[in-house]
Amino acid sequence: MWTSVLAVIAVLVATQTVQFLFNLKKVSYLPGFRTLFSQFSVFGAAIPTNYFHPGLNWIWKWRHTVYDYYGTRTISYVPFIGEPVIWTSSMEVAKQILAGDPKLIKAPSALVPLLLWGDSVLTANHEAYKKHRRVVGPAFSSNTYSLVARETVRWYHEMVEGENWIKQGNFTIDSMDQSMLKFTLGVLSRTSFNYRYPWSNSTDNTGVPFERALTTILTMKEVIIRLATPNWAYKLPIERLRRVDDAYSKLGALMRSFVTSKKDELASTTEDMEPLRSDLLTRLVSASEAEGKNGLDDSEVIGNVFSFLFAGHETTAHTVASALALLALHEDEQEKAVKAIHEALPDGRDPTFDDFTKLDKVLACFHEAGRMFPGGAIVTRDTIDTFVLKVPDEKGNEDVLVVPANMRIMIDMVGIHYDPRLFPDPERYDPSRWYGVHNETDLTYFGLGPRACLGRKFALVVAMSLMTCLLRDWKFTVPLKPGETKEQWRERIMQGKYAGLGFGVHHIPVKMTRRVKA
Ligand code: HEM
Ligand SMILES: *[C@@H]1O[C@H](CO)[C@@H](O)[C@H](O)[C@H]1NC(C)=O
Ligand SMILES: *[C@@H]1O[C@H](CO)[C@@H](O)[C@H](O)[C@H]1NC(C)=O
Ligand SMILES: *[C@@H]1O[C@H](CO)[C@@H](O)[C@H](O)[C@H]1NC(C)=O
Repeated sequence: MWTSVLAVIAVLVATQTVQFLFNLKKVSYLPGFRTLFSQFSVFGAAIPTNYFHPGLNWIWKWRHTVYDYYGTRTISYVPFIGEPVIWTSSMEVAKQILAGDPKLIKAPSALVPLLLWGDSVLTANHEAYKKHRRVVGPAFSSNTYSLVARETVRWYHEMVEGENWIKQGNFTIDSMDQSMLKFTLGVLSRTSFNYRYPWSNSTDNTGVPFERALTTILTMKEVIIRLATPNWAYKLPIERLRRVDDAYSKLGALMRSFVTSKKDELASTTEDMEPLRSDLLTRLVSASEAEGKNGLDDSEVIGNVFSFLFAGHETTAHTVASALALLALHEDEQEKAVKAIHEALPDGRDPTFDDFTKLDKVLACFHEAGRMFPGGAIVTRDTIDTFVLKVPDEKGNEDVLVVPANMRIMIDMVGIHYDPRLFPDPERYDPSRWYGVHNETDLTYFGLGPRACLGRKFALVVAMSLMTCLLRDWKFTVPLKPGETKEQWRERIMQGKYAGLGFGVHHIPVKMTRRVKA
């Protein structure tokens, strides 16, 4: 009995070893991690980053050392059990990968949480991508951006009112990132889905707050639980699973209700009543009713609704929250931004989309936070055919790396944005790096190439409007513990990680004091 068990184990280990050696060859013996499990397996994600197990967070924790350690910015990750991948933090290599070559795709297996509802502009490839892009692209117009600025400002005033901030005068927000998550979700649902709820007591008719349904789903843990659990298990009386399942069905129902009410609205308006025809939901729903190659099926409509909530919500919220925290740490930079606001809007009025270019110094504060904590920290592509990369070594000589088909390449956007050759003294918060940068394609934290962020301008308009109102009305400072220095506060609080599906700083407390109106 025991001998046969041992024999089976020996055979398994032997085949796995052969596979492992084959995988090392597959990555052309690039230096890098050799581990037991893949970092994206259930085990891999559960164990925190340590010497033997890089885990999920090595791109942050080892950002200053890992590429020097291996002597190259393009490395491999070969687990004993699981698929090998290539990682790069080289801007030159990333540009080649994201230049739009059809041999590199967004692989469904890398996008599982996004595909739960349906294919979308975020997940599709080749011809299917063109179809989605034709439908949603025109929703990003200056009409939309004017609406986004208007609704952001309105929502800001509702937040100030709902939180009773003016009466309090000065106070500490426990978690600026949580407040901003609530904020950006409201902006997205108002402007993209015409769904409004009040700042306070924002429950739907079933009593579950919309933002809670969404944020429950959008956490890595819940997604892993959802994916690892067979459907029948949800019938068991396990509280945790029930909560996950409940949130999924609530969000599904809500997204479908957006679509149904838009369908009704479109059916009851005549051509000459033409409402704002270019908003995202109108375009999606109209396209679902169109035939042929512009048509989207029902799952694709919901897939796109979810993709926009997903892509736009956490990313924008975390970037605004960390920008405010960094400005609280760097009061000189905060005062520069406030001065720029007074110059652009001397009468202290609320900003509109027309003020966008005048407020570029406020945006520079956002860009610099986006560099230091890029919301899309990992960008992946898979080869579907052999692909040849030119990989520069430290001396600037070019090596050729032949990547075989079916290989995943992961672009480490944290690594790129802390490369001292591109961003000298990368730990320094220095918004002036972005002064005079007006071309969106230079904002690398939104990705590179033809599939860089479609919501760039949308995010920037939200940031410009919200940060202008906040910095105009409030002075931000850091709530230090007794005896703590700002440096220690930064070390304690300003750490990036994946929690939720996006990368960012979590649980940022900030102090707000009302600025006296001049
Ligand atoms: C600071 C905020 C944001 C950051 C850092 C960010 C980052 C990114 C990145 C890095 C990509 C490229 C992914 C890839 O190449 O695989 C991307 C794509 C995308 N983002 Fe954003 N994003 C932000 C805000 C938004 C907003 C507000 C929206 C929508 C309203 C949005 C919608 C999209 C969409 C639809 C794509 C896919 C584009 C395509 O494949 O053609 N994003 N984003
Ligand atoms: C903050 O508010 C408290 C009372 O609410 C007041 O005593 C204190 O002076 C205020 N501090 C600042 C800096 O405004
Ligand atoms: C929100 O709901 C709570 C409890 O249901 C209630 O006490 C509070 O007055 C409500 N607030 C507003 C602004 O309606
Ligand atoms: C932005 O830069 C890209 C690439 O460098 C260039 O192709 C494009 O024309 C520029 N756009 C503007 C508005 O200057």
